[in-house]
Amino acid sequence: METVVSGIRPTGYLHLGNYFGALRNFIKMQEEANCFFFIADYHSLTTHPKGSELNTYIKNVLIDYLAAGLNPEKATLYVQSDLPETTELYLLLNMLAYLGELERCVSFKDKARKQPDNINAGLLTYPVLQAADVLIHKADKVPVGKDQQQHLEMARDFAQRFNHIYETDYFTLPVAYNFGNELVKIPGLDGSTKMSKSENESSCVYLSDSPEVIRKKVMKAVSDSGPTEPNQKKPQAIENLFQLMKAVSTPQTLQFFEAQYSNCQIRYGDMKKQLADDVIIFVSPIYERILELRGDNDYLRKVARQGAEKAHESAAKTVREVREIIGVRSL
Ligand code: TRP
Repeated sequence: METVVSGIRPTGYLHLGNYFGALRNFIKMQEEANCFFFIADYHSLTTHPKGSELNTYIKNVLIDYLAAGLNPEKATLYVQSDLPETTELYLLLNMLAYLGELERCVSFKDKARKQPDNINAGLLTYPVLQAADVLIHKADKVPVGKDQQQHLEMARDFAQRFNHIYETDYFTLPVAYNFGNELVKIPGLDGSTKMSKSENESSCVYLSDSPEVIRKKVMKAVSDSGPTEPNQKKPQAIENLFQLMKAVSTPQTLQFFEAQYSNCQIRYGDMKKQLADDVIIFVSPIYERILELRGDNDYLRKVARQGAEKAHESAAKTVREVREIIGVRSL
């Protein structure tokens, strides 16, 4: 069976973009592969050194994951800092990572520009920690977005270098996996092409939004005064409404509003009302489950503990073998 590993930095609640991007595919993958989905809290410390809010964020991501349908009996769900083996492998991999390549990494340069007073070594070696996350379970596949491709290539480089230096074929080279056609891009409600928390908080529909909040957000979505000629090309904001509708509404509903658009009879107020209804129908079951899980700390703790234990089994074996291969042993 293939091994799949993917991490997410805990920065807040998950939105529809996250759901239709990775999450929905994770839910499918857990049926077919040996999946490790973890919350990368150490990575967050490279930019936000104080852990005070981290715990809330970790809990929120875990809740959203579970509510959306990740099953802890199928996939291994854990928190990165609960798996100390990762940090040991990270240290060992650091010996194989060159300063030059780390400095050339695009995400490093970006973050160094953004936080010139805190260009710490953790930021520099961020890709090494990510490589450790992946290699600790000897992943075959790593589902990541475009922005993570370079990190994945570096993980492959470190794995290959390890194999070369120690004359072994120990590490499989992990492949970056983007879901291809399975990936549905969800636009923002603000006219932007991508639903993104960092761009605009109010452009997002969160899985944890109540029906009332969803309705307000959708009714406020950017539109315009409507088409003036039959079959006019749609401006971006309007295209976005249709894309969202395509994701959550029935084909009949979509067709109806397409036709209304084509013959210039569309009323965006009506369309948004329908869209709000359908988004609510879509999100409600997840939302309800989120409310339940929020009150069940015991269960969340149990999931995290069991996840860490399962992850530990695979990770401890890797670290033992890597130490053996390098020649690190106790007297
Ligand atoms: N760097 C990733 C991000 O910001 C998160 C991450 C950490 C990750 N470790 C990983 C993703 C390992 C995939 C595999 O999105």
